[in-house]
Amino acid sequence: MKTINVGIIGFGTVGSGTAEVLLAQAKNLSRKTNLVINLKTVADIMTTALPQKFSGCTLTKNADDIFNDPDIDIVVELIGGIEPAKTFILKAIEAGKHVVSANKALFSTHGRQIFEAATRKGVEVGFEASVGGGIPVIKALKEGLAANTIQSIMGIMNGTANFILSQMTDHGLPFDTVLKDAQAKGYAEADPTYDIEGIDTAHKLVILMIMAYGINIRLEDVSIEGISRIKPIDIEFAKQFGCRIKLLAISRNHGDHIEARVHPTMVPETHLLANINGAMNGINFNGDMVGDVLLYGQGAGKMPTGSAVVADIVDIARNVAFNCLNRVPSLAYLPSEIKDCVITPMAKISGPYYFRISAVDKPGVLASIAGILGKNGISIESVIQKKRRDEGSVPVVIRTHDAQEKAVIEAISEIDSLSIVTEKTVTIRILN
Ligand code: HSE
Repeated sequence: MKTINVGIIGFGTVGSGTAEVLLAQAKNLSRKTNLVINLKTVADIMTTALPQKFSGCTLTKNADDIFNDPDIDIVVELIGGIEPAKTFILKAIEAGKHVVSANKALFSTHGRQIFEAATRKGVEVGFEASVGGGIPVIKALKEGLAANTIQSIMGIMNGTANFILSQMTDHGLPFDTVLKDAQAKGYAEADPTYDIEGIDTAHKLVILMIMAYGINIRLEDVSIEGISRIKPIDIEFAKQFGCRIKLLAISRNHGDHIEARVHPTMVPETHLLANINGAMNGINFNGDMVGDVLLYGQGAGKMPTGSAVVADIVDIARNVAFNCLNRVPSLAYLPSEIKDCVITPMAKISGPYYFRISAVDKPGVLASIAGILGKNGISIESVIQKKRRDEGSVPVVIRTHDAQEKAVIEAISEIDSLSIVTEKTVTIRILN
């Protein structure tokens, strides 16, 4: 049996998970590939010794030991972040190695440079683990959905944010307590801001959009709002409207322009995405031939992410063994076919909205608010006004019919400038 040698850079949660998956599945992988996939070297600056079960593997602190080893075929980068990960990947490519990585922050911001370098050297780059953890979402776009023009991408792509919203919804727990729990469970990024503020989800959406539509898109093209401003009271009102609040990545393909947005969304309880709870991820593609395809599974964690990394290693190992490198383009489309595109301005997005306006409870307040909404062409579907408190403000909650974002921004700005309004209005888009 031919041996394919692998070197891993970074032996943290995903790095050690990948090593464990390779070990646990060694026989199974040989039965599937007729190859021995051998973990030859691990490079990590923090690890002083590898567990006994990896006794056949060399540990080094110097990643150059991997790039300079002519026997290593595949370099797996699992340190995350931009640098030194980018330098390591480019060095590996320069050395003629194939690369596998889970690094969504890097691929969504510097992917072009990496893929151009890989194309020049004729090596493969696998990044299945960068989106949706263990869910084979990249493979679905590259292969399973190849016969489609993708019409939309909609999904829950961050386990930490979904875990926080689910715990807040199911147990009425405060945001901070739940965040600490998510960090303890190992879902959260090193900087949890990325999870909470929608940045990690946007990284993933960028990668999926490039592959789904064959377009150039930058992180800056994505409109990003996080969940840190969501209060338990909003979750309660969402329930009254028959909805759950989810952090959604949404992209709709309108042909001549494409939506790219990440924001908290009220999702009707009957919708499949409303029922993806805890740290689970769910990603829905709509293809013009196949219709809706929903992929569900563990979007984070040691073994699920290790499973995705090893799936890439297997793909590349097979291509090396059968001498058919780049049979499937890394980004689904041929590099020369990745085109620029127009991103839909947020001002033009339209749909129903939830507003929670904090107002003084006195006659005429509702009339003033309704007047501003009417003037901006925003039609009210329903209103909830909570009972009068002894002092301070009351929440006036409004659900609208479809409204254009531009009109909403203008109306809310006017409402918030009223003297009877005591806090900045919370607006949440409702999935239509
Ligand atoms: N921090 C990410 C999440 C890990 O919570 O989903 C996987 O990308």
